[in-house]
Order: sequence, then C-alpha cells, then structure tokens
Amino acid sequence: MARAVQIAPSILAADFSRLGEQVSESLRAGVRRIHIDVMDGHFVPNITMGPLVVEALRPIARNFGAVMEVHLMIEEPDRYLGDFSRAGAAAMTVHLEACPHLHRTVHNIRALNAQPGVALNPATPLLMLDDILAEIDVALLMSVDPGFGGQKFIASTIDKVARLNKILVERGLERIEIEVDGGVGADNIGALARAGMTIAVAGTSVFNDRKSVTESIAILGTACAAAL
Ligand code: DX5
Ligand code: ZN
Repeated sequence: MARAVQIAPSILAADFSRLGEQVSESLRAGVRRIHIDVMDGHFVPNITMGPLVVEALRPIARNFGAVMEVHLMIEEPDRYLGDFSRAGAAAMTVHLEACPHLHRTVHNIRALNAQPGVALNPATPLLMLDDILAEIDVALLMSVDPGFGGQKFIASTIDKVARLNKILVERGLERIEIEVDGGVGADNIGALARAGMTIAVAGTSVFNDRKSVTESIAILGTACAAAL
C-alpha cells in the first residue's frame, strides 16, 4: 500500500525579494518541510545559497514546527555540515556522487542530530545505496540532473521509485522516506505516490506566476490524493 506523501516546496523557485512571505504562505497551506537547494558551482554548474538563508528562515519554520532540509549539491559537504546545523537545518541530504566516504558523512550528519539523506543522480543506479540504506532516513531520487529548477521530469524515475520501495519493504526499512526531486508537478505526482514516493519536492509547481502558492499546493495535494 502506498504511504502518505508530503510536499516539500523548493525555495529555489521562489521570488527571493519576498522569500519569507512565500515560505510563510506555504506553511499556512499545510507544508511542514522546506527544501533548500545548496549549489556550489563545482558539483553542479549553478551557485545558489548557503547557511545564511537557512538561518533567516529559521524563525518562520519554527513557528509552524516545520523541518528545513538542505539538499547539498556541493563537493566536500562535511566541511559545511556544522554551519548548516547551527543555522537550523534538521535534515541534510548529500549526493552519493560527491562523497567518497559516505558512511562517515552520514554518521557526521547523525551526530549533529539531523536526519541524514543520500541523493542519487538520475544515472546513478539504486544498487549504489545498498550498503548505506539502513543508516539513512531519506533516500532522494533525482528526477532531473541537478543544477537548475524548472527542468523536464525524467519519467523512468517512477520505476526507480517502485524498485526502491520494493527493496525497503523486503528489508523492513519502510521508515525511510523516498523523496523525488525535479520536475514534479500535478501531471506526475500521482504516479510517483503510487510507486512509493513519500516526499515530493516541488519548485516551479509551487512558486510560479500562474497561481498562488496556496492554490498550487492544493492542486498538488488533490492530484496526489486522487491517485492513492
Ligand atoms: C534541482 C533542485 C531541485 C529544483 C526543483 O537541482 O535540486 O530541488 O529546485 O525545482 P523544479 O520542481 O522546478 O524542478
Ligand atoms: Zn533539490
């Protein structure tokens, strides 16, 4: 049976001149997880934000009891885990492709009392997660090549989610969240939810100039509920 899905808005797509306002609106609409994309211009071509933004959003997130998760698309993430933790990140996801000592990195995140997550790029096979799976709280499957918001969803991710879900069930690891990131919208959220996704990252499908944040979140929630 498919599990409940939470929507984690990715602030990368937000209007940065009104960031607090837009995050507050998403929290008022029921969101309890804020996705913060950290890019270093090395692991991915783009440069985005760091601990200062996490710190600025902390009081807003705290008001609603929401979790701020940082998606670290950076090389040598261990150097910055302490900074993000002090800034208020309660969940930290690193890329498998950027971490030669992944076991140590995951344990460093755990030692900071944060939820450790591991992200896989679209071309990275699931079997690479095999020996770290039992140690993590979140498995993030990228459904675009990381680096930019607003890219086209890679449809084979749905099958990858289903395969990961099967592995989690077989191993009694259903406590682990399956998060999908990139191009998630009303047209694919239902299929992803049926396949076993439990956290849907949504950037441009939440923050856009077509609909309000509240409306966009409701549309995603409805599409998801209708599919389950
Ligand atoms: C891509 C980022 C995503 C991105 C999602 O590298 O990790 O979180 O902001 O944005 P959309 O939903 O617009 O693809
Ligand atoms: Zn992300």
